[in-house]
Amino acid sequence: MLPHPTLAAHYATPEAKPEFVNRLFDRGAKHYDSVVDWGFLRSGASYRRWTLQQHGLRPGAHLLDVACGTGLVAVEAAKILGTAENITCLDPSAGMLAVARTKLAAHFVLGRAEEIPAPDNTFDFLTMGYALRHVTSLEETFAEYHRVLKPGGKLLILEVTKPAGRVSAWFFRLYFGRIYPFLTRLFTRSRDARDMMRYYWETMDACVPPAAVLAALEGAGLTAVKRHIVLGLFSEYTAVKPVPPAG
Ligand SMILES: C[S@@+](CC[C@H](N)C(=O)[O-])C[C@H]1O[C@@H](n2cnc3c(N)ncnc32)[C@H](O)[C@@H]1O
Repeated sequence: MLPHPTLAAHYATPEAKPEFVNRLFDRGAKHYDSVVDWGFLRSGASYRRWTLQQHGLRPGAHLLDVACGTGLVAVEAAKILGTAENITCLDPSAGMLAVARTKLAAHFVLGRAEEIPAPDNTFDFLTMGYALRHVTSLEETFAEYHRVLKPGGKLLILEVTKPAGRVSAWFFRLYFGRIYPFLTRLFTRSRDARDMMRYYWETMDACVPPAAVLAALEGAGLTAVKRHIVLGLFSEYTAVKPVPPAG
């Protein structure tokens, strides 16, 4: 299942999506941190760290941060782990990875969630921040998460989800669809940065409902599948790879 239907204004077929998305983030990479910093009222770093702690990331864990981008999740994870040496950062955008490399001494891998270049049963914890909309298949992605997690390992997927209420949905649409891309262009003077944030909105708007994400996680054989919602806006999907029965 695609996380959202093909967005014909940007690419003609699902196969063309990865190249479009890659170009978008390669071009927007140098603006990404500043734009998400003010766009989310400077809450990004503390929220990422808080939610990692809440969901049980602890020192000693081997972490895979899928769609690491410029490293915003990984940097906060390294503060909790006390080191970046057990963190692997995966992203298909060389531009985003280049920014991340300047921030922490983790292992950096160019690659996609749907085809993770790592052996089975490698990681205790897996994170994906604000990128589920960019994969080409939820099933392939979650099968890979199941494969690379150790038995008992946990995943945490962070997303921004359109609110359910009419008034909040209207405000959400106005802010993410119009105000945020407009201010991004104004502050950065970059069309690439504006296009990145416009696409951010378009994919949120078209995204499958949370129930479909939860069903796909369960379908991949993960257990304890849950969605926690913060401020009616921030979805935290968690799941655990089951431990096989002894004997
Ligand atoms: C909005 S950024 C999120 C960056 C970071 N995780 C954060 O918390 O801010 C989305 C990232 O997803 C990456 N991405 C796009 N398609 C992907 C895929 N198929 N697999 C893994 N990452 C992907 C992009 O290159 C980009 O760096």
